[in-house]
Amino acid sequence: MDSFQALKKFIEQTLGIQCSNYKEDYIKRRLLSRMRSTGSATYEDYLGYLKANPPELESLRNALTINVTEFFRDNDVYEFMRKDILPALLKQRKRVRIWCAGCSTGEEPYSIAMILSELLAHNPGISAQIIATDIDKVVLAKAQEGIYSSKAMVKLSETQIRRHFTKLPDGNFQVKSHLKELIRFRPHDLMSGVPVSQWLDLITCRNVTIYFNEKQKDELARMFHGALVSKGFYIMGKTEYLGRTLENLFESYNSLQKIFIKKD
Ligand SMILES: C[S@@+](CC[C@H](N)C(=O)[O-])C[C@H]1O[C@@H](n2cnc3c(N)ncnc32)[C@H](O)[C@@H]1O
Repeated sequence: MDSFQALKKFIEQTLGIQCSNYKEDYIKRRLLSRMRSTGSATYEDYLGYLKANPPELESLRNALTINVTEFFRDNDVYEFMRKDILPALLKQRKRVRIWCAGCSTGEEPYSIAMILSELLAHNPGISAQIIATDIDKVVLAKAQEGIYSSKAMVKLSETQIRRHFTKLPDGNFQVKSHLKELIRFRPHDLMSGVPVSQWLDLITCRNVTIYFNEKQKDELARMFHGALVSKGFYIMGKTEYLGRTLENLFESYNSLQKIFIKKD
């Protein structure tokens, strides 16, 4: 086994991240970035460094599962949810079920929850739940805590901040309980092949699959298809695409916003 293979095996065993499911170039770029930061010249050096410095494991996990996110990222797609998708779902169902997959530090599910809570106020008797998942337990803990710096709030209006957040004495903002109550955060690996739930009305999985290889993308499309109700919605990131099988499983609802509907 060469040193790159040995390093990947160690990562799989210790972090539970299946490197073979990701594009090799991607894994190498992320490893090289950590190697530069730790002064490791070779994969072998870096493996030695990882074994001798356990805290580096968390830095590596963060590097492999880049967590960049923001409230209302690509705002147009949220406008579609606000004006079109969510009102339609609230009309059809007594209980709307959403899976926000690869939710990082929570800005995405909280953005959806802000829209939902405003719509639910006009739809008495209807309830909604968001299941928000990520493979990275560190970001999930932050999501669950729901505390954000003022820098993270720049895209939110004064009204949204007042309605949905409490300003803390240190200048940070905490999500109010009416939003938190709409969301269940859970660890989940999208490569496990098992959906977090079934009979879902909407799945958002945005800016996650860019690191997945073709086989993994195909399997993910099948998993999402199986987890959605008939005509359920699937929203992916603007720059993403799912493998060739996507066309058999989903039809496009809005190609610019990458919104799809499950084909039966
Ligand atoms: C760039 S963030 C995207 C966050 C959010 N969806 C957005 O669009 O702003 C990608 C997230 O995907 C998560 N991720 C990567 N691989 C994953 C996997 N196999 N299963 C679940 N989550 C994964 C990462 O931990 C990271 O938090």
